[in-house]
Amino acid sequence: MAAKQGMALVQRDDDGVDRAFREDVLAGLAQAQKAVPARWLYDDAGSQLFEDITRLPEYYPTRAETEILTERGAEFARLIGRARAVVEFGSGSSVKTPLLLSAIEPAAYVPLDIAGDFLRAAAAELSAKFPGLPVYPVEADFMRRVELPAAVAGMPKLGFFPGSTIGNMVARTAVDLLRTMRATLGEGSQLLIGMDLIKDPKILTAAYDDAAGVTAEFNLNLARRINRELDGDIPIDALSHEARWVDDYARIEMHLVARRDITLTVSGKRFALKKGESIHTENSHKFNRRTGNMLLLAGGWTPAKRWLDREGRFSLVLADATIPRSAP
Ligand code: AVJ
Repeated sequence: MAAKQGMALVQRDDDGVDRAFREDVLAGLAQAQKAVPARWLYDDAGSQLFEDITRLPEYYPTRAETEILTERGAEFARLIGRARAVVEFGSGSSVKTPLLLSAIEPAAYVPLDIAGDFLRAAAAELSAKFPGLPVYPVEADFMRRVELPAAVAGMPKLGFFPGSTIGNMVARTAVDLLRTMRATLGEGSQLLIGMDLIKDPKILTAAYDDAAGVTAEFNLNLARRINRELDGDIPIDALSHEARWVDDYARIEMHLVARRDITLTVSGKRFALKKGESIHTENSHKFNRRTGNMLLLAGGWTPAKRWLDREGRFSLVLADATIPRSAP
């Protein structure tokens, strides 16, 4: 792993700026509906704010998914079996992983993450908790096909993709990712994936616009990051956080809405927002049984089992990398 440390996944310009960040922001601000890809929300401050979000009373997904993982261990063991290699996509600092690993007694654990330092620290922590378990961290962008370590080549795989992160992607991107995961994991693999459910829009908008204002800070942090890293002058106090339910797409959209007409400069380029105009910063798609199954099938995965938390707010789906044999 150490040899990979210098092989930067992040390309920096002479001034130390992440080139992809600058390109995404400049292109996104030039669009009719201004938008910045949601991945840029997660710098160190943003990742910390997201952890704070997971503890908010209004933000149910983390607690609901943890409940399923805690209570369904015996069923995971039966349906997944032992001795699979668990491959976690975007493992981060996941606290959910030990719940799964202790239920199924896997043969190996392969956390994949783009943030290398974070990844290695989390992998070390997990190794300490599961002394007999071989852990092979891989620093990689899971949106692309990943070459798994040779040590797990012969093992059947279980992909683990919790948190409803799949909901951050529009359908076309989600399907691409599911197909890529299938290619990474191989024939005969399984996937355990979290999918948040469609529910009363009042509950959904509250989960993304909490009373304490933590989600607002998380969203505004993107503008602060642009100012800091891309020499921007966005007037932060002129933006307000908004969480919108868009029923046609079954998704929550986060926006930064201009409270007044503003002009701003980023990396020397000028942009303007009229009062009420917004920068779209995140999508969080919600699913029901049929739309979730349809998405998985389109991505090459056959749903096999679905669990909900007691209040029916969140789903965890187990799917197989097999094509259902059906006519015609
Ligand atoms: C980490 C993408 C699953 O969409 O619920 C939480 C991110 N954004 N509050 C989600 C998020 C605002 C979260 N995911």
